[in-house]
Amino acid sequence: MLIKKPDDIASSEITPEAVYLRRREFMQGAAAMAAMAVAPMAFSAPSPLSHTPVDARAGNPFYTGETQTPFSDASRYNNFYEFGTDKSDPAKYASALTVDPWSIDVEGEVDKPGKYALEDILKSVDIEERVYRLRCVEAWSMVIPWLGFPLSDLIRQWQPTSKAKYIQFETLYRPSEMRGQRSAFSTIDWPYIEGLRMDEAMHPLTLMSVGMYGRELPNQNGAPIRLVVPWKYGFKSVKSIVKIRFTERQPKTSWQGIAPREYGFYANVNPKVDHPRWSQRYERRLPSSLLSPNRIRTQMFNGYEEQVAGLYKGMNLRRYY
Ligand code: MTE
Repeated sequence: MLIKKPDDIASSEITPEAVYLRRREFMQGAAAMAAMAVAPMAFSAPSPLSHTPVDARAGNPFYTGETQTPFSDASRYNNFYEFGTDKSDPAKYASALTVDPWSIDVEGEVDKPGKYALEDILKSVDIEERVYRLRCVEAWSMVIPWLGFPLSDLIRQWQPTSKAKYIQFETLYRPSEMRGQRSAFSTIDWPYIEGLRMDEAMHPLTLMSVGMYGRELPNQNGAPIRLVVPWKYGFKSVKSIVKIRFTERQPKTSWQGIAPREYGFYANVNPKVDHPRWSQRYERRLPSSLLSPNRIRTQMFNGYEEQVAGLYKGMNLRRYY
């Protein structure tokens, strides 16, 4: 696994110098933690963030042993429409995004609403590494080592009321820095919004990610904080989150708003239910090329069936796609 100590990372590669220095403390914890993942038994608590050791045994759903996608692919082949619709646009333009200071507004059916500074959120959780498959609805996939913490850790702190049945997530709306939001041709009604049912949000696999490959999240991957829901198509994994709303009713989502017959609320990876315009039975595992397409079979719930099938017991997955 690729691990860079903070001192090895050119600040230009990730964030402006001042931001880099302010977030350095976090990265020292994260890098120490990532080093841990290589030798999980040699565990000792890094400073300043505590973390959970990773168990790399086969069958651990938090840590697939499949070949990891190189960092250069995971950070250059992106979907982040706020910066353009081309796969290479986010890497080109996301450096314009200011990610510090950052806070998340918590609203709706919750006992502790408010504006939470990211640094306070990070002090309240343990950062760990998870190696997950990411399957895009467009039929390509990657294997990414994320750094993050279970979303359930935050939900418990904020104490949802008994009426909270769903959660809606909102991405930053800042057209001055996000050139895709200034485009007259954009199909998305900004800000980008997504949602989960409460039991999905509380599931131990559901991660809030603040880093990948042992370093902080590149802007194009959703810095400074994004969702990762590994058994759902990638569009559910909303980036650069600034608002979380607890709701009684199923919230709207951006892609449902654009093409409701193509993109459902659930969006569980399902090789048996095709997208109206293409098959979902196979995927291209990146990196792939014309000569070496690296085509593999798509697994039910992206390989997390054992862990999540129970959430959908008795549900018609063709209807609730
Ligand atoms: N979040 C926002 N705010 N805007 C987006 O365009 N694209 C989604 C998801 N999150 C998107 C987003 C899609 S379609 C995918 S496949 C993943 O991000 C891609 O994540 P990655 O670029 O880190 O691989």
